[in-house]
Amino acid sequence: HQYLNGVKQLYENGLRRVPNKYIFPASDRPNHNTQHPNLIQLPIIDFSQLKGPNRPRLLHSLSHACEHYGFFQVVNHGIGEDVMRKMMDVCRRFFDLPFEERGKYITTDMEAPVRYGTSFSATKDRVLCWRDFLKLMCHPLPDFLPHWPSSPADLRKLAATYAQETKYLFLTLMEGILESLGIVGEETEELKQLMEDGSHMMMANYYPPCPEPELTLGIPPHSDYGFLTLLLQDQVEGLQIQHQAQWLTVQPLPNTFVVNVGDHLEIFSNGKYKSVVHRVLVNGVKHRISVASLHSLPFSSTVRAWPKLISETNPKKYKDTGFGDFLDYVSTREHKRKDFLDSRK
Ligand code: SIN
Ligand code: FE2
Repeated sequence: HQYLNGVKQLYENGLRRVPNKYIFPASDRPNHNTQHPNLIQLPIIDFSQLKGPNRPRLLHSLSHACEHYGFFQVVNHGIGEDVMRKMMDVCRRFFDLPFEERGKYITTDMEAPVRYGTSFSATKDRVLCWRDFLKLMCHPLPDFLPHWPSSPADLRKLAATYAQETKYLFLTLMEGILESLGIVGEETEELKQLMEDGSHMMMANYYPPCPEPELTLGIPPHSDYGFLTLLLQDQVEGLQIQHQAQWLTVQPLPNTFVVNVGDHLEIFSNGKYKSVVHRVLVNGVKHRISVASLHSLPFSSTVRAWPKLISETNPKKYKDTGFGDFLDYVSTREHKRKDFLDSRK
């Protein structure tokens, strides 16, 4: 039907009103104040300080951020400006392709190596979201790369480089996070191997301008499922996080990754580190693009609290979970919500 082709088509048709299908119930609508948004100053992690004498101080900041914000921004991460810029640029060129080209990758299969779509599921969602997306499975890269879009011609090469560099960033951040939880030395070997073999997918999001942005959302409130999500975004605001019972806007900084704790890390840390609810607002004038890299353990693994982090005073908070539980959860819902984590209690 008319909505399957996504919001880019709607925008290009020049519509003046948001179709009813995209209107969220009043209670879920954003408190739109894009002129004077309530901004949040996320903790800044200077990645270059992870090596060297400032490591303990940096791990302390990392721990504080994971515990009290669930979000932080990484600067001096070592990923070249050109790698980030080219990734954004090739995603933009992909979304600029004619619909016939993008549409080749439409599938309802959640586990497909490449999936183009709109909202979460254009056929199932009761209310549709103002976003189109391209989802790429990334690990192991040689298995998936041949399935990625062949157009634009340089997409595979640029996205593969970007995927490899963000994977390294994820692994290095996780090493620091494990250390901040007191998990060091030999006991980390197996874990690190699991992370290296871990699931990795990239979600490129495209949000065209919206004629009535106060009625809809780019992505409704949710938490991410994995260990960490690394977000690359352009300079257009949109991401909001829930912090101290308020929705606060994250202001994009150039050459910076916004990183957040996912449900699996909350479970693994036995509740010490928090997977925080966030959402995406759209606006009336600007296109916005973001690329989220989601990292976790292999799809076949079980995620459970690390034994050392369970004690008499801090008993086990969550049931063990596998990706099967997650897929069962999302198959019965429109999109992932924070209550996936609650269902593990
Ligand atoms: C975005 O900021 O566009 C993406 C946020 C998310 O993946 O939840
Ligand atoms: Fe998210």
